[in-house]
Amino acid sequence: DGVDPAVLEDVAREVAAAAGRLVLDERPADLGVSEKSSRTDVVTDMDRRSQQLLLDRLAVLRPDDAVLGEEEGGRGGRSGVTWVVDPIDGTTNYLYAVPQYSVSVAAVVGDPGTPGAWRALAGVVLAPALGETYSAHVGGGARLTTAGGTVPLRVTDVRDLAVSLVGTGFGYDAGDRERQARALVGLLPRVRDIRRHGSAALDLCAVACGRLDAYYETGLNAWDRAAGELVALEAGAVLGGLDDEVADRDLTWVAAPGVADAFAALVRGLTREHVVVPAVS
Ligand code: IPD
Repeated sequence: DGVDPAVLEDVAREVAAAAGRLVLDERPADLGVSEKSSRTDVVTDMDRRSQQLLLDRLAVLRPDDAVLGEEEGGRGGRSGVTWVVDPIDGTTNYLYAVPQYSVSVAAVVGDPGTPGAWRALAGVVLAPALGETYSAHVGGGARLTTAGGTVPLRVTDVRDLAVSLVGTGFGYDAGDRERQARALVGLLPRVRDIRRHGSAALDLCAVACGRLDAYYETGLNAWDRAAGELVALEAGAVLGGLDDEVADRDLTWVAAPGVADAFAALVRGLTREHVVVPAVS
């Protein structure tokens, strides 16, 4: 079966492992940094090389599937499956040799360009500098593989938001960042503490494995979250967006079930109040 989610997870593991080796073993002294949408939004030559490797491997293993990547140069396909890939999620960390960066690979069906119009069948988030591979397929649970072996993932059983450790991240546009900072002012006094690790894909996996109780961010793209969301869901997390249970660019939140209602109410309120700019009619 061409869309057996377990098979797709194996493919994702294989191509992510190859990209992870490239990114870690061949990190050059001169990273070839250039700026994208703003001075803080950077891309390195390695982002492009890693995406090209993913494209090349997927062309061999899954020639009929489409590929959508963070960097330019995806391709179409006729199978109905699209690989949504972030060749380096956490590029700023990669730039500074902070180990919290990842290769994110998801197999989705539907239109990954439209929120709510796609769902992930399989996903892998691989952090080469940490030696960690998070993976899941729909209905099959979530796993963490390290040199020590593979363990199933489960979210925390926290029930009180006041003692919850919450992750977040910030977009690259200066105006967005100012609004996100204002929302954070309302959140920080209500939780145990905040972490900004710098890779959305790894933040989602951190909720899955209990290193965070919850995580939220505005402005995520499908490639930042497609794989990590599935890992979190399969580990028992609850997930949603600004209005419903579909995460989108306005808001992606994910939480352990015991704090999900309280967390969703808080981050939705703060996002509406501070972050989402009402459309001018
Ligand atoms: C970024 C990281 C970061 C998040 C940004 C993303 P990139 O991805 O995931 O943690 O806060 O929103 O764009 O650009 O390094 O692939």
